[in-house]
Amino acid sequence: MILSLCGMMGCGKSSTGAALARLLGWPFLDLDAVIEEREGRSIPEIFAADGEAGFRRAERAALEGILDAPESDLVLALGGGTVLTPACADLVRHRTCCIYLRTSADTLAARLQDQTDARPLLQTPDVPARLAALLEDRESLYETVAAHIVDTDGLDPETAARTIRDLLP
Ligand code: S3P
Repeated sequence: MILSLCGMMGCGKSSTGAALARLLGWPFLDLDAVIEEREGRSIPEIFAADGEAGFRRAERAALEGILDAPESDLVLALGGGTVLTPACADLVRHRTCCIYLRTSADTLAARLQDQTDARPLLQTPDVPARLAALLEDRESLYETVAAHIVDTDGLDPETAARTIRDLLP
């Protein structure tokens, strides 16, 4: 089974995914890291050279590559905007068991206040307003692809991971 984690930047996809993989004894992949490895460039470099559209193409190719040759069991942390590409949303919905890590805009802003450098979409003077706007745009997409929703406000990654494990059959 491929367990994927979706949700906004700062919701804890990578840290919770790594903790969940440890709990289950499964491999863990972070889609952003796979994109960087395939491209030989950092995410800010891809956005700077190719724009968001170019990044989304690279993201889709990386996701398709993972799902074409899946490990038997895998925990996969998606990017915050993966589900914006309809083909990616379809893949996530139909080929993975997706968990939406739901997090309030206030919590996201607090968690990300010193972590905006590697995030091209947060290069703005008003990060909390940008996060709130992105969340409003994306929330229904996350809900559509998700098999389960876990509220992560106030949860550390280990607790979130145990919560997800307990949801699984
Ligand atoms: C993005 C989220 C980032 C990364 C890219 C775009 C987004 O991943 O894929 O900067 O559109 O929300 P994280 O959610 O892991 O930060």
